[in-house]
Amino acid sequence: MRTHQIAVLPGDGIGEEVVAQGLRVLDAVAAKEGFAVAKTTYPHGADHYLKTREAMPAEVLREMGTKEAILLGAIGDPRIETGLLERAIIWGVRQTFDLFVNLRPIKLYSADLCPLKGKGPADIDMIVVRENTEDAYAGLGGIHRKGTPHEVAIAEMIYTRNGVERVIRYSFELARKRNKGGKPKVTLVDKANAIRAQDIWTRTFAEVAREFPGVETDHAYIDAACMWMVKNPEWFDVVVTPNLFGDILTDLGAMVQGGMGIAASGNIHPGKVSMFEPIHGSAPKYRGQNSANPLATIEAVRMLLDHVGEPAAASRVGKAVRSVLEGGKVKSLSAGAHKTDELGDMVLAAL
Ligand code: IPM
Ligand code: MN
Repeated sequence: MRTHQIAVLPGDGIGEEVVAQGLRVLDAVAAKEGFAVAKTTYPHGADHYLKTREAMPAEVLREMGTKEAILLGAIGDPRIETGLLERAIIWGVRQTFDLFVNLRPIKLYSADLCPLKGKGPADIDMIVVRENTEDAYAGLGGIHRKGTPHEVAIAEMIYTRNGVERVIRYSFELARKRNKGGKPKVTLVDKANAIRAQDIWTRTFAEVAREFPGVETDHAYIDAACMWMVKNPEWFDVVVTPNLFGDILTDLGAMVQGGMGIAASGNIHPGKVSMFEPIHGSAPKYRGQNSANPLATIEAVRMLLDHVGEPAAASRVGKAVRSVLEGGKVKSLSAGAHKTDELGDMVLAAL
């Protein structure tokens, strides 16, 4: 039987509970489709750090590099210095494996779940391709004369030609494959009017677009894109954007698709080990209460299945999630609206 090698990193807060449901779904769909999943679970995260002072050892990264995919729950804990584990683990994995695409689908399954008046599933069906290795996240800069009246804090936004070009090309290829209906479209979202270095995005986008005559192009500045996402979300098909704007825009996107409870992402390097995660955080106050929504993690499992070459299994999971949400039994995707394992049960039953 074919076996997929998966690393599992439940992480902090609600991570463990949502990942447990994701894995139930993964095992169930594997049994149906006739493949096996060999999982290696890693304890890294806040508790492990407090016990061992170990954030993410190079050795563990190396070992995870031998797998096909990583399923991550969430990282973040108020007991630990801000950003320490996020940078060591999330950024560490993104950077080590050069996961240059952060793929974030924004799809509404049921009009009841949408906070926008008059918008339904036909209007909200887009996918954000967030560049995932550069920008202000690169960590170039620092703090000089810290704590003095002359303190200087610098964070450089960096964009390389290669980094910009590959993520833009991925977006055009995705638009062509995705087939939303009508002519495929890629919208570039940037702030090139104020941040002139982003002219590299403008030029590269125009050049790559010439390779894809069948794909329509569009452009919006990030501030306007936030407005359009609320006012006219139906305008978007594939959206490509730098790292920081993509981070922000996709939290807004999560809300228009019904909430953080459903929003999933893939940190992808095509053909190589890639990491899949819900886009929500660790929500420490909900830890251990069986109240976090696992659907985002289950959706991350769906994306993972596509990545490891199991599209039939992925589509089964997608259909199961859709049928749970279309059935009207789920009134809200917020934490506490349903039990974590109850939503897992519903997806399993639908499978
Ligand atoms: C995300 C998260 C991370 C990010 C944080 C936890 C560093 O918000 O995946 O969207 O900003 O990329
Ligand atoms: Mn985020």
